[in-house]
Formats: sequence, C-alpha cells, structure tokens
Amino acid sequence: MQIRTAQDAPGTVRTGALVVPVFSDGELTGPAKAIDTALGGAIADVLASGEIKGKLCELALIHAKGQPFQRVLVVGLGESAKFEPYMLARYAGAAVRYLGRRNVAEIAVALPLQAATSAVACASFAAEGAISGSFETTSYQEKPDKRMAVTSTTLLSHGLDRAAVETGANRGTVVGDAVNLARRLALTPANDMTPTHLADEAMKVAKEVGVEIDVLDEARARTEKMGSFLSVAQGSAQPPKFIVMTYKGDPSSKELLALVGKGITFDTGGISLKPPDRMEEMKYDMSGGAGTIAAMYAIGKLKPKLNVVAIVPATENMPGGKATKPGDIVTAMNGKTIEVINTDAEGRLILCDALCYAQKLGATKIVDTATLTGACVIALGHAASAVVGNNDAFIDQFVALSKPTGERYWPMPLYDDYTSAMKSDIADLKNTGGRPAGTLTAGAFLKAFVDEKTPWLHLDIAGTAYLDNESAWQAKGPTGTPVRAFVSLVETLAGAPVVHANGATKAGV
Ligand code: BES
Ligand code: MN
Ligand code: ZN
Repeated sequence: MQIRTAQDAPGTVRTGALVVPVFSDGELTGPAKAIDTALGGAIADVLASGEIKGKLCELALIHAKGQPFQRVLVVGLGESAKFEPYMLARYAGAAVRYLGRRNVAEIAVALPLQAATSAVACASFAAEGAISGSFETTSYQEKPDKRMAVTSTTLLSHGLDRAAVETGANRGTVVGDAVNLARRLALTPANDMTPTHLADEAMKVAKEVGVEIDVLDEARARTEKMGSFLSVAQGSAQPPKFIVMTYKGDPSSKELLALVGKGITFDTGGISLKPPDRMEEMKYDMSGGAGTIAAMYAIGKLKPKLNVVAIVPATENMPGGKATKPGDIVTAMNGKTIEVINTDAEGRLILCDALCYAQKLGATKIVDTATLTGACVIALGHAASAVVGNNDAFIDQFVALSKPTGERYWPMPLYDDYTSAMKSDIADLKNTGGRPAGTLTAGAFLKAFVDEKTPWLHLDIAGTAYLDNESAWQAKGPTGTPVRAFVSLVETLAGAPVVHANGATKAGV
C-alpha cells in the first residue's frame, strides 16, 4: 500500500473513489458538504433515506458520473462530540477493505474538519488504518480467495496544515507497517514460525532499520543461567532462541526502556497437554514477541530520543521425551527456584528469565507483554488487555497514553494475596496459583523477578492479540496489539508524544 498526501480540494481529485466522512448528528460539514453540493445533494439523500445513519464504519457507495472521482464512499464516524483521532484508522481501514473487495485500486481519503486541531495524529491514524485495512490472511493460498485491490491511498490535506499531514502520514505508515509485520509473524503457522525463523525475522528487521541485535542460542542461555527458559525449551526438537534488539536513541542517557514479549512459537501445554479443541490457535502464543519485534521496527524508523531494548525469549512448549515434568524444580537466572506444577504455565517461565536479563542490561523501566492466561479472556473477553505492575504512576501513565491509540488496557490489582498463592512448599515459587484470579497470580509470579525500584508493567494480551471475527476495518486473526501502545509509550517517554489523551497534538498541529 502506497500512502501519499495531496493538497487538492476533494471535489477536484481524480481517483477511483473519494472517501468522505459523515457524522450521525448535525448538518453535513467540511468535505462531505462540499461533495454533497457537487453531487446535487446525493449524500444528504443517503442519510435522509435512512440507508445509513453515520454510525462508525457504516458505508454507502455513490457512483459519480461526470466528476473527476469515479465514486464517493461515504463512511460514518459516529457522534461528532465523541470523535477521537484513532477512529480515523477504522474509517480509512473500512474504506480500504470495502473498496479493495470491489476492485478499486486508487482511493483518496478526506479528513473531517476536526482534524484541523490534531492534523498529525489524524493523518497518522488514517495512514495506519489504510495500511492495516489492506492486510489479508491469504498468503498461503495458491489463488487467494480474498483480494485487496487498493494499492494507493492519498490523504487529502486540503484546509489542513500540509506539513502536519505529511508528518502524520509518515508516522502512520510506519505504525501500520509495524502492525502488519506483527500480524504476519503471528499468523505464520508454527511449522514455519520456529524460534529460529522468528530470530531470522528479527535479524531482518534489525538490519533494515539499523538497530543492534544479539540472538543467544541454547549454550549462551545456559551460560547466563536461564534455567527456567531452558526448562520450557527442553521438550522440543527446535532449538530455543533468546532475541535481544537494542536501539540507542539517547546514548548520553542512562535511561533504558525494556520491552519484553512472550515468544512461544507453539504452546501444546507440554506434559500438562492442552485439549485439542482450538489448540491450533496456540501458534499465536508468540504474539507478544511479534508485537515487540514489530514495535522495534517502528522505533528504528521513527528514531525517538530514548534507549530501548526489546527482549523476546522464543521456544516451543512441547511434550518431548526430555520435557519438564510436573513437580520438577527449575532455577531462574536470578537463582530463584520454581516448582513447575503445570507445564502449561510456561509463559511466565520464559518471561521471568527475560525480566532478569532486562535488569542485567540495565533496564530502568520494563514492560512485558504476553498471551499469558486464559483467565484474562474470561475476565475481559476480547475487549481489552489487562495491565498489572509494581508502580501505580507508571500504570496510570500507560493507561492514559494508550487510550488514544485505540488499543484498550484495563488495570487490575496485584495484592499480596496473589503473591502468597505462588509460594511453594519446597521451592521459592511455584508456577501456578490455582484457578482463582489466574491473570493476577501470573502477574504476581512475574513481579517476584523485578526489583521493586524498577517500574514494571505486565500486559496480558490473551484476549486481544487475535480475534475470531473480521470487522469492517480489520481482517480476522492477529490484531497487532500492542504495537500501537508500545510506539506511543516510547514517544511519550522520549518527551515527544504524537497522540494525546485529548486528541490534540503537540504545538496544536
Ligand atoms: N498461552 C496460554 C494462555 C492462553 C490461553 C492464551 C488461551 C490465549 C488463549 C498459556 O500458556 C497457558 O496455557 N496458561 C494457562 C495457565 C494455567 C495452567 C495456570 C491457562 O491460562 O490455562
Ligand atoms: Mn501454556
Ligand atoms: Zn502459552
């Protein structure tokens, strides 16, 4: 997908389809009003007839004889007072998916009047959405059964600050490409997406965007005493890889943000074998790692002034002859011993060594992300990811900065009760705390591996990393969560946030 910008007035644009926004309340405004006039009231007719009401992502196609644009696609943005810039990702994504299925190759997207006060953010979301909307899941089909025809999206900056729209379009292109990278990695089946393949993909990213990379093999992981990580890998015929990518955006600073992502390329459960129903979805168990590598792609391209290290422990969780058995006791990098009650609680076993390694590298803040618990899907469904952590201010900051990205995170408590539930009779910790509050006992387990002076967050993305249903703006399958929030986190910590909670952007552009 090519993203361009143009200053032309919407009514003068030569394109396959002109995309214009309408709201579900009030009069037609901005580009919708101008095009309605050019079409002799056709947009007003569509709304008056009740064909669409203007709800978010509602669509109506109008053919436009005798105009420079062949068609107009009217797309709803909902109530005008509730408008937020991230909705433009869904707006543009819905347009790309609708028109792409109907053989339209080139489209031009108009932005609503509201974009005037937040042009960078609005253009960024529109570009991100056009790119993520074009993602399809058919790469393994000889003759893809779904085709996205749209190859070029032009964002119209008419009436807006042209430079701001260009800046936003460039950022949104990077974020959209990163989101789709995370989705492609997650979608790739586990026979192809082995730990070695994931490390190779990370190396390609590192080379392309110019970040450092170090991939620890099994022998080096052993030298680092990552006994917990290796205990998960030992049941598999595939060698584990411990991926470390480093971006030095602020070399004179000692601040270092660590992003840690669970990289289980397939989770059978190990000896505590999972039931077969939907086990194929466990190829997605490296979604946190994929999102982390993809965020590093975006960071390398956007070059924020912050040091960031990405850590992805990658392994399969298999029940091979050498596999860890329930009751085995393993030793993590920091010397803590763990009684493995259930080999299916493997995510925390690889993350705890990654958290230790992040601190060894000097991390001053840590955020980990993982498809960690089925309990998280029970608690929040597919509507939000859970956030826990050891520092309320950092939790609040993350929740606030992620909200305007369109990704949802909901804070949950980490009471000492959950820490108590993880005590073992014969080791320092056990790896499961029973059925109650499974997301939070998992969080309490991870907390035990982070120095309490280091602000740390854990994002459980089990319910949000992939979805069963497609929507108007997004293919079904992997979503790219938490790439958008990670990019915003890094920009915010670098002191240059692009997307603000109130939708405005820095310096009001
Ligand atoms: N990868 C799973 C969690 C998961 C389940 C993600 C469903 C997405 C959808 C994780 O490794 C796991 O198996 N967790 C166990 C932990 C339990 C044994 C304490 C779970 O949630 O059942
Ligand atoms: Mn598991
Ligand atoms: Zn898992």
